[in-house]
Parts: sequence; C-alpha cells; structure tokens
Amino acid sequence: MEIKEFKIVICGGGSTYTAGIVKNLLDEKRLGMKELWLYDIDEERQNKVAYLVREVVKENRPEVTVKTTTDPKEAFTDADFIMAQMRVGGLPMRVQDEQISLKHGVIGQETCGAGGMAYGMRTIYPMVQLIDYCEEYAKPTYWIVNYSNPAAIVAKATQKMRPNARIINICDMPVEIEARMAEILGCQMSDLEVDYFGLNHYGWFTKIRQNGIDVTEKLKEHVRKYGYISEASMNDVFLKDSDWVHTFKVSAKIANYFPDYLPNTYYQYYLLGDDMYKYMDINHTRGMQVINGREVRVFAAADKLAKGEAVDMNQFYVGVHGVFIVNVVTSLAYDLRSRQLVMVPNNGCVENLPDDAMVEVPTYITSHGPEPIRVGAIPRFYKGLIEQQDACEGLLVEAAMEHSYVKALEAYTMNRTIPSANVAKEILDDMIEANKGYWPELK
Ligand code: NAD
Ligand code: G6P
Ligand code: MN
Repeated sequence: MEIKEFKIVICGGGSTYTAGIVKNLLDEKRLGMKELWLYDIDEERQNKVAYLVREVVKENRPEVTVKTTTDPKEAFTDADFIMAQMRVGGLPMRVQDEQISLKHGVIGQETCGAGGMAYGMRTIYPMVQLIDYCEEYAKPTYWIVNYSNPAAIVAKATQKMRPNARIINICDMPVEIEARMAEILGCQMSDLEVDYFGLNHYGWFTKIRQNGIDVTEKLKEHVRKYGYISEASMNDVFLKDSDWVHTFKVSAKIANYFPDYLPNTYYQYYLLGDDMYKYMDINHTRGMQVINGREVRVFAAADKLAKGEAVDMNQFYVGVHGVFIVNVVTSLAYDLRSRQLVMVPNNGCVENLPDDAMVEVPTYITSHGPEPIRVGAIPRFYKGLIEQQDACEGLLVEAAMEHSYVKALEAYTMNRTIPSANVAKEILDDMIEANKGYWPELK
C-alpha cells in the first residue's frame, strides 16, 4: 500500500488526552505525517501539553515535527484530518454543571441531564466555528473526527446548522464496553463484532458475536451477575478508578430489569437517577477528581520535562480511546470500510425513529464518510426512551439557534433526569447565570 502524507491537526491540543492520542497516531504508520499540529485557544495550557507530545514523538517517531498554534488559519490551512477534543469552559465549568445540578436534587454529570445540557449550550457555537474554519482553510476533502462532548448534542447541532460539514462525531464508551466484553470472554477485541442502536450515551447492544458465534446470551448472564467487570479487570486498571468500577458494576441492575439488550453504561444516569444521586458527592464530583488526578499528573509531567527530568510516558497512554479515533481516521484516509460505531443522521436506519435523530449505530467508514448498517424497527420501550431524549436534545439545539428561553425550558423539562418543570426552571435559571459569556443569550 502506498503511504500517503497527511496534515493532521488536534483541536484542543491542551487536552489531558492529547499525549495518549498522539501515541496511537504515531503507532499507525499508514498515517504518513511529517508534521503534527496542535491547535488550542489556551496557549499556555497547550504549550505545557506540548512537552508531553514532543516526548512521545521523540520516543516513537523522532522524524515528526510538532507544531503548536492558536491561529486557526495556520492550524487548518490544507488540513486533511482534524481530531477535535475541546472542553468549552474547561474542567472548572464541568464542576459547576455537576454542583448546580446536585444542589437541585438531580444527578450532576458531564454529558447527561442538566449538566450535559449546560455543557451542550456552551459547545454548540464553538464547534460550528470549528467547522467554518475547516470549510474556509482545510482541504475540500477534510474530515473532522470529533470527541468533544456532549457529543450527542454536538452531533444534533452540527447536523442542523451545518448539514454539509464533513464531521463524524464519535464516542469511546461502546468500544470501552467492548473491551470489557472481550476481557469477560477471554478473547481479543478484534474477535468481537457487535450490533447496537441508540443515541450517544443512550444506546443498547443487541447482539455480540465472537468470531462469528453469537455469544449474546452468555454475556448477558455474566453482566446480570457482575456488570461489565471480569476477574481480570478487577485486578487491573479499574481498581485505580473507583467511579468507573462502580459504573461498570451498575449495568448489572439495568441488565436484570431490561433483559432484551445490554445497556450503555450511561443509562445509569437516566434509568437509575435516584441511585446515582445518592452515590454522587457534591464535594467530590467526577470533575473534581479529574482536576486533582489526570490534570495534575499531566501538568506535573510537563513541568518535569521542561526541567529536563525523565517521565514515564506510559501513564498517559489512553488505550481504546486513542486506538478508536485513529482507526476511524485511517479508515477515512484509505477507504478501508472498517466497521465502527459512530453517530450518523438516522434517515431510516432505525426504521421507527425520526430521520433527523443522530443515531449511534455500526457503520462502514469509507473515504466519503460512514455508511450505516440498517437496524430495522426497535421495540416500543426503547423507541419511547430514545424519542424523548432526541426531542430533548433537539429542543436544546433549537434554543441555542433561536435564542429561545422557552425552548431551553422545554428541553430541561423533557429530560428524564429532571422530575418537574419547577425543578427544570430553577436549574435553568441558575445555569444561565453560571454560564454568562459562554451560552448564547436566551430571551
Ligand atoms: P481538557 O479541559 O483537559 O482539554 C480540553 C482542551 O480544549 C483545553 O486545552 C481547552 O483550552 C481546549 N479548548 C476549549 N475550547 C476550545 C476551542 N473553542 N477551540 C479549541 N480548543 C478549545 O479536557 P479533557 O478532559 O482532556 O477532555 C477533552 C474533551 O474530550 C472533552 O470535551 C471531553 O468531554 C471529551 N471526551 C470525549 C469522549 C467521547 O467519548 N466522545 C471521551 C473522552 C473525552
Ligand atoms: C467516557 C465517555 C466520555 C466521557 C469520559 C469521561 O470515555 O465516553 O464521553 O467524556 O468517559 O471520563 P472522565 O474520566 O473525564 O470522567
Ligand atoms: Mn462518550
């Protein structure tokens, strides 16, 4: 195979994930790169992370030059692939989303419920701006592969506001769950193929095949007992992060209540909000844990590298998260048609959901984008859940586009995690106050 040369840009270069993703980029030799570009709006933060990135490059492919910029023209001119991972408002605003929600008695979460909608309102316009930069400066064949959350709302908004944009929104959660499934089954991830439908952070596995053999019932039995946790994983990564252990265990309850399919872990917030509200601690939110954990580690390592001290870079590698986005990019680059779960406009893929829902389903990634695999009709319970969430996300996007307070209130009221219009209004009013300068003004 002839190796082509690409200009790859990481948007959100200052992210805690950048060094890890770069490792996976460098491992993929088919992505011929002379230069790797980092773009961010926060120069200082990006410059710190760049120390880690240069170290990864030095250890893996020293011939690659790392370029950093805060100038969109420089970043996106003639770009082939833009990997986006912006966090609008940063981690401190994540903590605010979590705490405001919890204060009003509902779950406080990065991408779900009241917090997720607040984050969505912050992110819609910066993502549209990114598309506009790429339309102006990048190659006409550019692709944005986007991790920036809340990906469901970003997908809905960008589809509505820039329907012709070359953007694919992705999420690592289903593939992370597949990695757990492989551990449980004692096989490689590449042995597995899944069928799946839903919205982002709102979907279900309907079938799992291991080397062509249907292992769905076997997996269900395990998940009903233990969740997505294997003996191996208990001794491995998860014990380092108790929230994720908890999350993967909670899926057991959902799998028992609703035996048809296996849930995305994010359903814990929508279907077991009461349990999760009790579990959450307003003084020790997930955002705070990331600020005091992952972010501290990244900046401490950058400081060490700046002083010429050695750092173990293995701690920053992000496994499936990096592998997945690089697989999507490589499949776009070489028309590999690999099978990947990504977000696409429904357009009949799930027969009884609206055409304009942004569904997360298996697709083949071609050079001209994802070709979804038809799901067919889904049962009433799942259809009802998804229609409600799609309506909620659609209303939020319309609120942002039309600057409509009433539509924002409708979106907050429509969300399953919020018990009444009274609570919705109280939270919305607090969120408007806390997000001044970030949200479009609502009238
Ligand atoms: P982070 O705060 O460490 O990094 C985000 C970076 O984005 C920061 O350097 C910030 O300055 C930059 N940024 C903010 N607004 C920007 C803009 N308009 N243009 C360019 N850069 C901008 O956050 P993190 O924890 O590393 O997460 C990064 C993003 O990836 C978040 O949105 C997170 O939710 C998302 N994420 C998504 C998935 C998924 O499954 N889709 C998985 C993991 C992380
Ligand atoms: C998973 C989800 C992402 C989410 C992340 C949060 O990877 O798919 O959408 O952003 O978890 O992880 P954190 O460690 O920041 O809480
Ligand atoms: Mn996700």
